[in-house]
Amino acid sequence: MNSNTPILSAEDLVVRYQTGSRQHVDAVRGVSFDLYPGQSLALVGESGCGKTTLGLGLLRLLPRLGSVPHGKLSYVGKDGKTIDVLKLSRQALRRWRWEEAAIVFQGAMNSFNPVMRIGDQMADTMRAHQVGGVKPTKEQIAEKSAETLRLVRLEPKQVLPSYPHELSGGMRQRVLIAMSLLLDPRLLILDEPTTALDILTQRAIVDVLSELREKLGFTMIFITHDLALAAELADRVATMYAGRIIETGSVRDIFSSARHPYTAGLINAVPPVTGDLPTLASIPGSPPSLATLPAGCAFRDRCEYAIDDCATTDPQLDMIEGRAEGLSHTAACLRWQDVDSKREVVTADV
Ligand SMILES: Nc1ncnc2c1ncn2[C@@H]1O[C@H](COP(=O)(O)OP(=O)(O)OP(=O)(O)O)[C@@H](O)[C@H]1O
Ligand SMILES: [Mg+2]
Repeated sequence: MNSNTPILSAEDLVVRYQTGSRQHVDAVRGVSFDLYPGQSLALVGESGCGKTTLGLGLLRLLPRLGSVPHGKLSYVGKDGKTIDVLKLSRQALRRWRWEEAAIVFQGAMNSFNPVMRIGDQMADTMRAHQVGGVKPTKEQIAEKSAETLRLVRLEPKQVLPSYPHELSGGMRQRVLIAMSLLLDPRLLILDEPTTALDILTQRAIVDVLSELREKLGFTMIFITHDLALAAELADRVATMYAGRIIETGSVRDIFSSARHPYTAGLINAVPPVTGDLPTLASIPGSPPSLATLPAGCAFRDRCEYAIDDCATTDPQLDMIEGRAEGLSHTAACLRWQDVDSKREVVTADV
C-alpha cells in the first residue's frame, strides 16, 4: 500500500445510543478523519465527550443500544483492498477485528475472565479467531503467546499460569496489549492505556508502546485525557468536545499554537514540566448534556471568545494550515484567528 493512502478514513460518522423508546442521544456527531499507515493519533477531551464511543464505533463494538446510523468507514486491508467496515457481515467483522484491527479496552480488569489462567485466555482468543480458517496447533499457540508477552516485557513463564488477580495493574494492562497483538493487527486502538496506574508503571507502558510502534510499525489511535501522554506518543492530536472533533493538528501545532479556545484551555490547565510557573487556568463550567445541546457552538457557554454569531452557527473544521498525510491543522471555531494559546508565564517572585 502506498503510504499516501489512508489506512482508515472516517466520513461523517454518527454514533447513537437509544435512551428510551423514542429517545436517543448522538454521542458522536459527524466525525471525519484520515489515518495514515504507521501514524499515531491521540484523541483527547474531557470525560463524557465521546472518546470511548468513537473508539467502539470504529470497531463496531458498541453495546446493544448503540448504533452507527450514518457515515462511512473505509479501511485498506493487508491484501490492499478497501472495504467499508460499516458494511461488513457479522462473520467478516469478526475476522476484521483481531486480524486487522484490535482494541485494548478502558479498565483492564473487566476485560479478563477472573477464573481463567492468562495462558488459557490467550489460547482461547487464538482458537476463536483462527487465521484463514486454520486451527492453530498447541505449539503455535504457546509460541505466539510467549512472543507477544515478551514484546510487552513480561516473562511468559511467570504470566501464562497466573490468574488475572495475581498480576499487578500494570502487568494486566500489558497482558491486554499482548493479547491484542495475537493476531497481528495493523491498527490498534487503546482506550486510556495508562489511567489508574502509578507514574512509574505508566512510564513502563509508554515505553512498551513506543517500542512496539517502532518494531511492528502499526497504526495507533489512543484515547486519553493525559496531554503529556498525547505529546509523547502521538504524531497527531484530535480534540473532542460534545461528540465532535473540534481541532486537529500535529503535536507541535496543538501544543504550541492551539486555535480552538477549548484545546487552548485544556493545555493551559496542565502545569509544564520545565520553565517558569505559568498561571494555570481551569475551563469554567462543564460540558453540555448531549440530550439538550444548544444551537450554535456547543462550547460557547464556557468560552471567553464567544460572540453573538456563536449562538447561531455551529462551526465546521476550518483549515488553518494545510499539510500532507492528515497532518493539517484545523479548528472548528469562528474566532480561531483571535485565539492566543501562548501561556502566560508568571515571573520570578512566585
Ligand atoms: N450505553 C450508553 N447508553 C447511553 N448513553 C451512553 C452510553 N455509553 C455512553 N453514553 C453517553 O455517551 C457520552 C460519551 O461517553 P463516552 O464513554 O464515549 O465518553 P468518554 O469521552 O470516553 O469519557 P471518559 O473520559 O469518562 O471515558 C456520554 O454522555 C455518555 O453518557
Ligand atoms: Mg472513555
